Amino acid sequence: MKITEFGYVVVGTTDLGKWRDYGTKVLGMQAVDGPDGVLYLKMDERDFRFAIQKGDKEQLFASGWGVDSEADFHAAKKAVEGAKAKVTPGTPAEIKLRKVQDFFSFLDPSGLRHEVFWGPIASFSRFVSPTGTRFKTDGLGFGHAVLPTSNIQETVAFWTKVMGFGVSDLLHMTLDPSKPPISIYFMHCANGRQHSLAYAELGDPTGCNHLMVEVDSIDEVGHALDRVDQNGVKLTLTLGRHVNDDMISFYMKTPSGFQIEFGTGGVVKDWSKHQVFETTRGSHWGHKFLGM
Ligand SMILES: [Fe+2]
Repeated sequence: MKITEFGYVVVGTTDLGKWRDYGTKVLGMQAVDGPDGVLYLKMDERDFRFAIQKGDKEQLFASGWGVDSEADFHAAKKAVEGAKAKVTPGTPAEIKLRKVQDFFSFLDPSGLRHEVFWGPIASFSRFVSPTGTRFKTDGLGFGHAVLPTSNIQETVAFWTKVMGFGVSDLLHMTLDPSKPPISIYFMHCANGRQHSLAYAELGDPTGCNHLMVEVDSIDEVGHALDRVDQNGVKLTLTLGRHVNDDMISFYMKTPSGFQIEFGTGGVVKDWSKHQVFETTRGSHWGHKFLGM
């Protein structure tokens, strides 16, 4: 069984209008109306990568992980069941909304919802950004997620032993000198993105620290920074370059309260030539935290 991409996210929000504005004017994604009032944000040839649904709170509702075939899908289901995690099949309405052949959901050991799907359904029509933005997703999934956890060892063990992920690197970081350092574990699935999923010992009521999307040039990052400023969006981390994945990026607050990292230049890995490492800092330069 292997997960080959971070395929989509489902976000819950009380304010779809804010997400529509933010998704189109700031992120530069295409807004498409989905079933049951859902807002799709399209960023490549897939029909959507972000599904924004109305809810009673702001949250990352689910992270969607893709496998390559129906056989891999059943293998994934068996693996999750074998780990004594409760597998919930998608309902017909949920499957329709996600535009896949089938999916199941489960809670990871940190209590966060994930979905495994196979067979994305799309018109594979050209992505036309309202801001001229070009995203980098080809063969890499749409980006990455950094999620909060209070039991990092158990959670990382689940993703590596059950879900077939590999640890890419780890980081111990002192945020508050009066407290012990926090850990972040970065993991990859079966594609070249340096990390598709990471867990950090941080609390977050939305179930997400940040999602990352990647664009094809530093100019696209610069244009996005201008749009952040023009639209009054809160910048949370200044421009900087990460040590682990080489990404040059900035972070901003989304209408749901978690952050989006917007970057370029992420390394594409050959995992046969990788040594797991620990860094003593997250960034070569920049990424100054400006508060939430
Ligand atoms: Fe990130």
